[in-house]
Amino acid sequence: MANILLLNGPNLNLLGSREPGLYGSANLEDIVATLTSSAGQAGHTLSALQSNAEHQLIERVHCAATDGTDLVIINPAAFTHTSIALRDAFLAVAIPFIEVHLSNIYNREAFRKDSYFSDIAIGVVSGFGALSYQLALAAAIEKLPAIEQ
Ligand code: DQA
Repeated sequence: MANILLLNGPNLNLLGSREPGLYGSANLEDIVATLTSSAGQAGHTLSALQSNAEHQLIERVHCAATDGTDLVIINPAAFTHTSIALRDAFLAVAIPFIEVHLSNIYNREAFRKDSYFSDIAIGVVSGFGALSYQLALAAAIEKLPAIEQ
């Protein structure tokens, strides 16, 4: 059994009503509920935090170093393209993570193509709407046995 932490960055609390053409109609509560249930069915626990504040996400990553978190799934949202501080937090705790995006960040504005996380992530899932989270969880479940050793 592993402990998975799901982190969501700024404005993702507005999913469902926020630019539904880009981000879909599912709200974050539903996404978290689906993932929690899928993780449970696979014998793992999943806890989740969404924050609009960079420091809260950083502090949650710091806590993950000592609270038994095995793997993080994160949609850093706009912090993807701006936050060296959150990147450094992942480097500091050395917990493996998967980067997730609802939209395809490579077919949007040029500034969205650059991520401070992709090169240090296990992998990136981008462009499948709410399904991106499920694909990331499936990848996490596949990778966990090697991580837990
Ligand atoms: C996003 C993509 C980011 O560029 C954007 O700032 C978001 C959401 C996504 O899930 O597609 O807030 O991370």
